[in-house]
Amino acid sequence: MSAPEIRTIGVVGLGAMGAGIAQLSIEAGYETVGREVTDELGEKARDRIAHFLQRKVDKERMTADERFAVLERLALQTELAALSDCDLVIEAIVEDLEAKHALFAELEGIVRPDAILATNTSALSVTEIASAVSTPERVVGMHFFNPAPLMPLVEIVRAELSSDDAVDAAYTLGERLGKKPIRCHDTPGFVVNRILIPLLNDCIRALDEARISPEELDTAMTAGAGWPMGPCTLVDLVGIDVHVHASEALYEKLREPRIAPPPRIVAMRNAGLLGRKSGRGFYSYD
Ligand code: CAA
Repeated sequence: MSAPEIRTIGVVGLGAMGAGIAQLSIEAGYETVGREVTDELGEKARDRIAHFLQRKVDKERMTADERFAVLERLALQTELAALSDCDLVIEAIVEDLEAKHALFAELEGIVRPDAILATNTSALSVTEIASAVSTPERVVGMHFFNPAPLMPLVEIVRAELSSDDAVDAAYTLGERLGKKPIRCHDTPGFVVNRILIPLLNDCIRALDEARISPEELDTAMTAGAGWPMGPCTLVDLVGIDVHVHASEALYEKLREPRIAPPPRIVAMRNAGLLGRKSGRGFYSYD
């Protein structure tokens, strides 16, 4: 296949990551179709994006007219069929292989044969996701980091059957979105999570071993290791459920004890202490 020129981007799933990716897309000038399962969830994502763009206006990094024009580029839809004209679709739905298979199989029947299908999965295999379609050469990983509008990296993941054209098109798009893309292969956790997940789990184990508080651990890693954000603040931001799920998925594949989620954080997930999104994790939020 030869990759199309990217003019219109689809984003499926407008949670924290999908909304961030849609924000990047409209700010970079792309007509963007954002798909959520209900109008309410779509509106919530638009409000979130509108809020962060307003902060840019407040800080004089964008004019009110520019903000208006940027928001105009986002079309919210609940029907997948609305993605038929997209040159590239980025999937950012729940981290569940069956759900992703169903979505990719349906998308394949909707988009043009040359459209690229990208997944923002952080812990599943892009190759396994691509196995749901009859044209796996058009499937690549585009793994953004949380919060997507602020974190510069995007991992461009080559699955076993990805074409060079699809990988190159995703890389070029990453650059046009203002990111620093890196190319990597489809290995568990890709590059950053392969390193960061065991490290964060070690941090959580140190809480109990060193008998310190989350505040003290965060101070240790920001003031002693130069991290921009302490590990407890970071896991609260990413979502305790997301972190536990990613740890379990990587542990299943790599079987390294450090990757397994510590019991403390599994208990937090089971108790509904999910971090920022639930109002309470290691810290409490208003
Ligand atoms: N979306 C869009 N805009 C946002 C935002 C978001 N989620 N969060 C903040 N902003 C905007 C806000 O408008 C904010 O300004 P105001 O507070 O005045 O409104 C502006 O960005 C700047 O925000 P901050 O002052 O909080 O920025 P900062 O300089 O403190 O940096 C940070 C924030 C970039 C997140 C920094 O703390 C950092 O690098 N933290 C580490 C994050 C990290 O490691 N992420 C990776 C997580 S792992 C992962 O993502 C992998 C995975 O697969 C799950």
